[in-house]
Amino acid sequence: MRIDIITVLPELMESPFNASILSRAKEKGIVEVHFHNLRDYTDNTYKQVDDYQYGGGAGMVLMIEPIDKCISSLQKERTYDEVIYMTPDGTTLNQKLANQLSLHENIIILCGHYKGVDQRVRDKFITKEISIGDYVLSGGELGAAVLCDAVIRLLPGVLNDETSALTDSFQDNLLAPPVYTRPADYKGMKVPDLLLSGNFPKIEKWREKQALDRTQRLRPDLLK
Ligand code: ADE
Repeated sequence: MRIDIITVLPELMESPFNASILSRAKEKGIVEVHFHNLRDYTDNTYKQVDDYQYGGGAGMVLMIEPIDKCISSLQKERTYDEVIYMTPDGTTLNQKLANQLSLHENIIILCGHYKGVDQRVRDKFITKEISIGDYVLSGGELGAAVLCDAVIRLLPGVLNDETSALTDSFQDNLLAPPVYTRPADYKGMKVPDLLLSGNFPKIEKWREKQALDRTQRLRPDLLK
């Protein structure tokens, strides 16, 4: 999978991709992530990529020209499955959407900033608008990093144990069951006996019940 991220703040984006699972995915050649600094796509002497909004009002708006140049140059090189715009008024990201995006070959992610982007960018180039939740961030970069993490960990070969993404919370609309590791007794706090029993069919049943109970208690909306 190839992901092209367009941003005015590439330095804000780089570190999550250089650690842990995402860096391993890059090293294994499973994903390529390319950052494009919007300021490299303007002829403006001051590298200005934003301007005041027509009609007045507070806040700057990202201009269409550098975004057009950047997206068009990428689209000349290859076909993209989606051109995503990170914005608080987009579709809220969930596991189903991450699963769908993980099946794509090439995607572009445009990070908004300030008051957002010129509406004509959204009308002409954007195929999907995604929010990571009902709150406003200073820009789309952190949202794009969250989206990439959720998608990249699903790509075959990224997680060592392939089944572990399948048993994540939300994959079957259930929260994950509780997990334990050594020691079996920590200051009197004990791991449930069943988990030490080696009776795997019974353990599986216990986990299913725990997942269901947890979901009923914490996220009943998922069961509707
Ligand atoms: N940009 C600003 N707020 C955002 C959000 N909640 N999700 C995605 N992009 C954003």
